[in-house]
Amino acid sequence: MALQAATRVIRAQACAIRLVARCLGEGGLVAFPTETVYGLGADATDGKAVARLFAAKGRPAFNPLIAHVADLAGARKLAFFGPAAERLAGAFWPGALTLVLTKSPPCPVAELATAGLDTIAVRVPAHPVARDLLAAFGKPVVAPSANRSGHVSPTSAAHVLADLGGRIELIVDGGPTPVGVESTIVACLAGQPQMLRPGGIARRAIEDVLGCRLDDPPAGAPLAPGMLGSHYAPKARLRLEALEVKAGEALLAFGPDLPAGARRDAVLNLSPTGDLVEAAANLFAHLRALDQAAATIAVMPVPNEGLGEAINDRLARAAAPRGAIAS
Ligand code: TXA
Ligand code: MG
Repeated sequence: MALQAATRVIRAQACAIRLVARCLGEGGLVAFPTETVYGLGADATDGKAVARLFAAKGRPAFNPLIAHVADLAGARKLAFFGPAAERLAGAFWPGALTLVLTKSPPCPVAELATAGLDTIAVRVPAHPVARDLLAAFGKPVVAPSANRSGHVSPTSAAHVLADLGGRIELIVDGGPTPVGVESTIVACLAGQPQMLRPGGIARRAIEDVLGCRLDDPPAGAPLAPGMLGSHYAPKARLRLEALEVKAGEALLAFGPDLPAGARRDAVLNLSPTGDLVEAAANLFAHLRALDQAAATIAVMPVPNEGLGEAINDRLARAAAPRGAIAS
């Protein structure tokens, strides 16, 4: 299939899932909801489909993808599970946790999807549409966030259409995604498990299950290449930890007390009650909306606890200078 495609948006229903499975089997690209963000899916075992996916996203081809499977049995066909991985999969799958593991020798996932690494990122999503789709397709589906490279991740079918319309075959509309930030990525390789990306499951919950602290990857040698530099970049400049709003700025607020100077028409609140779960769910949609409203977005401080760690990570990346690798 060529890169040009007439993109159809369909509602998530049983008959739609069969259509989706057929489309994937023919090498098509299908955006679908997961509980974290919308993913852009391709048959993980079809190198050509994976190459089309990279082209549709405009993503550097050396950035590896997450393989999504219906259940733990499907994951075991791709990767080796040591004791820590077993424990985490048991506690958090299906859910917003991605495990980076050593590939098992007969792993059928295309080399391009794992960027030639001998490790693979695997996830069992919890969203009912994603689960039905993976069960119907019966093979692993690689799915990066369904945005153009360098844009914020999509949390609705409309976001996907705005970024990828005309470049992919199908978008399955399952409504807004409940978690709103991407999955937490933990590498269970040699030594202590490492948190490669904060996300929808908080560090503390993972550490409680493991009974030990998660390591951070060594500085300068990130294992998740897509986490470099300006990853979640709106066009507007972001001014973080803002305690006041300057002339002309939009405001991304958090909590009940707004600073003086906020323009009524350019304020969106991540959570008026200060709820970090609600804030995560709103993050990308609010960034997209404010990006249209002003050249600079002032961002109020968000506490760095629970899902706040993932929110602050995404905000720091969105504020970083442009030009670095993005996914
Ligand atoms: O919530 C999510 O994780 C969403 C939904 C669609 O599942 N997916 C997502 O995929 O965020 P993506 O491609 O935007 O981010 C995947 C991250 C990238 O930073 C990539 O570098 C990293 O996972 N990654 C993939 N395979 C890896 C590996 N073998 N080792 C280290 N990092 C890896
Ligand atoms: Mg992404």
